[in-house]
Amino acid sequence: MNDVIRLLKNHRSYRHYSAQAVEPEKLRLIMEAAQAAPSWVNGQQVSVIAVRSEERRQQLSVLSGNQKHVAEAPVFLVFCMDFHRAKLAAELEGQPFETAEDVDALLVGAADVGIALANAVAAAESLGLGIIPIGGVRRNTAEVIKLLQLPQYVFPVVGLCIGYPAEEQPQRPRLPMAAVCHEEIYNPDQLGLIEEYNVVHRESLKAQGLTERDWSSMIARFYALNPQYGDAQRTLKQQGFTCRNLNQQ
Ligand SMILES: Cc1cc2nc3c(=O)[nH]c(=O)nc-3n(C[C@H](O)[C@H](O)[C@H](O)COP(=O)(O)O)c2cc1C
Repeated sequence: MNDVIRLLKNHRSYRHYSAQAVEPEKLRLIMEAAQAAPSWVNGQQVSVIAVRSEERRQQLSVLSGNQKHVAEAPVFLVFCMDFHRAKLAAELEGQPFETAEDVDALLVGAADVGIALANAVAAAESLGLGIIPIGGVRRNTAEVIKLLQLPQYVFPVVGLCIGYPAEEQPQRPRLPMAAVCHEEIYNPDQLGLIEEYNVVHRESLKAQGLTERDWSSMIARFYALNPQYGDAQRTLKQQGFTCRNLNQQ
């Protein structure tokens, strides 16, 4: 196994950070790694807002559902899907611009953001920093958009806390590989694999002195309580992502 794969396989998320600042040079390297990610048609449909201000981190912590680690980590990156530059390019070239209104824009934006996020995570971890992604930024996107002054065609998808971890964190076990990685065609017969994972999941929680819970019970409960997460239904439209059918004008 090489060093990159060892690093990727050693990932864990941290929810407590020391007050030690993140060196500007390290932050720059993380941003460079994020920007080096591949993107759909080299459109680079991602923008990353680095939030260091304590006041703004505090506000984002509240907006993300009172997640204390967002205020505690010295740096909070907000990864946005971004078609603002594509719109400017269209204006520059005198071309029509409708693509952000197609539902496919959401897939493009989410994929570009995900790849950039993964690069940033790996870069941060390689520099001895700890991270945790924050989907909580999707809870109150109307407020996040206002706070970060995001223009039309820019939408916050995920945040990333970065800092020096204040405590050790064990690794979370993953599903059996056969549930996630399929050979040639998709295999929907996964109940046995989930039951297998439930045992591993319970044991992992027990080893940490936490209440033993099945993975399936945690996931079922989360999605039952949150069938719709956040206010994106409304704010996506406000930002220009209307998901209208462009073939039926
Ligand atoms: C897109 C995304 C959004 C996430 N949002 C949150 C969040 O808002 N709050 C949180 O505590 N953890 C969040 N996480 C962290 C996951 O809970 C964590 O990655 C998962 O439990 C696996 O643990 P590990 O990262 O330590 O392996 C998020 C992870 C991802 C990939």
